[in-house]
Amino acid sequence: MKRIDGHIETLAQYTSTIDKGVTRIVYTEEDKKAKAYLKKLMEELSLAIHEDQIGNIFGVWEGSAPNLPQVWVGSHSDAPTNGGKFDGVVGLIAALESIRILKSQGFQPVCDIVVVIFAAEEPTRFGIGCIGSRALLGMIKESDFDSWVDETNRTLREVLLENNKDPVRVLDESLKPDRIKSFVELHIEQAVVLEREKAVIGLVDVIAAPTEIQLVIHGEQRHAGSTPMDLRKDPVPAASEVVLLVEELTKQNSTSVGTVGKMTIKPGTSNVIAEKVELSIDIRDINKEIKDSIVLKMKQEVSKIMAKRGLFYNWEVKGDDFPSKMDEANLQVIQQITERLELPYKVMPSGAYHDALIMSRKVRTNLIFVPSKEGISHAPEEFTSTEEITSGIKVLTEFLKELSYS
Ligand code: GLV
Ligand code: MN
Ligand code: MN
Ligand code: MN
Repeated sequence: MKRIDGHIETLAQYTSTIDKGVTRIVYTEEDKKAKAYLKKLMEELSLAIHEDQIGNIFGVWEGSAPNLPQVWVGSHSDAPTNGGKFDGVVGLIAALESIRILKSQGFQPVCDIVVVIFAAEEPTRFGIGCIGSRALLGMIKESDFDSWVDETNRTLREVLLENNKDPVRVLDESLKPDRIKSFVELHIEQAVVLEREKAVIGLVDVIAAPTEIQLVIHGEQRHAGSTPMDLRKDPVPAASEVVLLVEELTKQNSTSVGTVGKMTIKPGTSNVIAEKVELSIDIRDINKEIKDSIVLKMKQEVSKIMAKRGLFYNWEVKGDDFPSKMDEANLQVIQQITERLELPYKVMPSGAYHDALIMSRKVRTNLIFVPSKEGISHAPEEFTSTEEITSGIKVLTEFLKELSYS
């Protein structure tokens, strides 16, 4: 228990916002320190460590038949701006703790068990999530290295080079999916379902997927005092209409959610009519058809708003994932384990996405949840108790044992 708390508190110190939650953006000093700490934990467990060119880190516990397909377990170590202490790292700590328990029991896996720290699950830096798992599965294109840029206009390629990584080798390194027997991620729920149901384990059956759009509305930069209202090309009221549209279209369906999480007004001065507004739009659903129809309607309505206001705009789809079902047979196995351990559980969807969403495209994948207090996440108040994490670890340990035994 103390060990788990200790890891969480130590990792929480690797933040660029010491006074407000955990901010750990990929390829920054904080992110490197967190990864170094996790590597040290891997070393203590005598795992064989290697790292790929996008920054995913692997700790391998060699089985007695290392040629067999491997069992993978892991999550991410990056955190969004002013996020919490638990998102991502709980899955990594749980994976390492499970291995520690199995080793202390004298267990010897038949196939390898691989702990993976995904390079970057949060979209904070490049506007697209799960870069590590996408790269691993060969799901990024050569051109993405140049088109994905951060706030300082540095491309993913430049950032990788600055970090002594070789972008050219990233795509060559993509994994052969048949090398993996199964992948499992343990994660905090980030919603209120488990708390409401008085359950401690969530067995995820489907993960909702986002469509991530970057909308840039171009106006005409003019004087705020001397330009009459009828002569303005102001992108800010147009952006406001878009924000309301996102809310209106997604509210019409109980499974859909829509968020404008980032809006930048440029140049951003009180007495200047803006030259442009940049907005991020994130639309999610567990049903692809519903999500696609919302995105289509939104695109049509945005076009009407801009035509009405005589504004140019640029609509760029940065990511368009589809929802994914978790592996049914292994879900049954996890359910049986949970019942055996007498832990109350709930089979449920995940509204948040995870590396498990990407991994499930090519690999048998499962996702296990532990509760989040009041469902709060991506905020400094995020909380999961050590007891709850420990329950998750018990389930994970048994699952890894069953999977790696043959
Ligand atoms: C990632 O953390 C997401 O679900 O937005
Ligand atoms: Mn997150
Ligand atoms: Mn996460
Ligand atoms: Mn997530």
